[in-house]
Amino acid sequence: MSKLWGGRFTKQTDELVEEYTASISFDKKLAVFDIEGSKAHVRMLGTQGIIPTEEARQIGEGLDKILSRIEKGEVEYSVADEDIHMNIEHMLIDEIGPVGGKLHTGRSRNDQVATDMHLYLREKTKKLIELVETVQQAIVGQAGSNVETMIPGYTHLQRAQPISFAHHILAYFWMFERDKERLQDSLKRVNWSPLGAAALAGTTYPIDRRETAEALGFEKVYPNSLDAVSDRDFILEFLSDASILIMHISRLSEELVMWSSEEFQFVELDDAFCTGSSIMPQKKNPDVPELLRGKTGRIYGNLMGLLTLLKGLPLAYNKDMQEDKEGMFDTVETLEGALSLLAPMLETMEVNKHRTDSSVKSDYSNATDMADYLAVKGLPFREAHEIIGKIVLYAIQEEKYLLDLTLEEFKEFSELIDEDIFEKLAPDQVIAARKSEGGTGFDQVREQLKSAEEHLSF
Ligand code: ARG
Repeated sequence: MSKLWGGRFTKQTDELVEEYTASISFDKKLAVFDIEGSKAHVRMLGTQGIIPTEEARQIGEGLDKILSRIEKGEVEYSVADEDIHMNIEHMLIDEIGPVGGKLHTGRSRNDQVATDMHLYLREKTKKLIELVETVQQAIVGQAGSNVETMIPGYTHLQRAQPISFAHHILAYFWMFERDKERLQDSLKRVNWSPLGAAALAGTTYPIDRRETAEALGFEKVYPNSLDAVSDRDFILEFLSDASILIMHISRLSEELVMWSSEEFQFVELDDAFCTGSSIMPQKKNPDVPELLRGKTGRIYGNLMGLLTLLKGLPLAYNKDMQEDKEGMFDTVETLEGALSLLAPMLETMEVNKHRTDSSVKSDYSNATDMADYLAVKGLPFREAHEIIGKIVLYAIQEEKYLLDLTLEEFKEFSELIDEDIFEKLAPDQVIAARKSEGGTGFDQVREQLKSAEEHLSF
């Protein structure tokens, strides 16, 4: 089969080289975007009088036919045609004859492939933003039914202070909110049009880059043709945002793995999101959150891969850059999968309120508040801290929790302690008292929940 660029060559491409250099096995994912870009380009060629409008129309129709065949899964791509761009151009020439060869006037595969990827990433980023929001919705749902559910709050994975379960889970809401904002912001830069930069230096044809940019919904055109075809920072930015997002997913997943363990028993994941063991009949494994946590590696890897690929490349296009695609596709698809599972898993998760409420009663996490209790009565906080430390030590030796001590026992340590300590140090009081803005006090959490709901757009 003759190559679209075969004119200068006297020999067939080595078969291994053909296989090795072809990208069609993966860049076929760009087909619809490639056709969208080509249609905008050819229409512009017509309006600019670079080719007759009738021929531009014919080419546009040919592209539509190919698109519908691709959508029906009827096309077979050829490795000899190397990539999606030449595959489609070849199909077009087969479809409408030699006039199809006019499509590539005033453009190069270099601006073409960059355009395709901007279009691809714009669509996928928007879809991912929506998926992040479905996760936020599930979080808001769980938070709404668990404002007064109490769980231990941890630092160093040691019980620190009791908190509202809603407060804990809403922490992730805001992480995802910033992830959404980051993705949204990246769209500004995805919305630059490389089309018309041609191979690297622009073109001699009187093309109109503004027209194609507008037709493709881009907000501006790259002002420098070399930059347009040689940078991939818009993909790097996406991969960075994706890395932060999956890191958040991974931390939440880790908590779900812990919380659903025998040791914690704070939540029960729905059976539909767990699997059994082939040998241990009692097991119910949290495979989904484990895998979500595990997916972090490949997403970080894709970011590192592209950073490394681009480092040290001279301007402008280099074939190395063909390697920019698989990591991008993989990250998009991995995130789509992760977010699509995370939302329903959170939604169907049961919070074991008995267990969480009783666990905050069986620890020493009200010690800070006991120190505050003395401090409010006039003792310097440092001294109060010391006294309560001694009480905690005493209670541990007696195998009791703080509220199991009698008033007489308390008085041994400080005369300032009165009967009201028992009420003030109950976990619900301890939580309710944290009224500072953004704190875990139940009223604060209700406010926070309202504000979270206002951030949801659908
Ligand atoms: N398949 C190529 C890629 O993905 C398209 C651009 C090829 N350009 C070139 N000058 N060889 O990078």
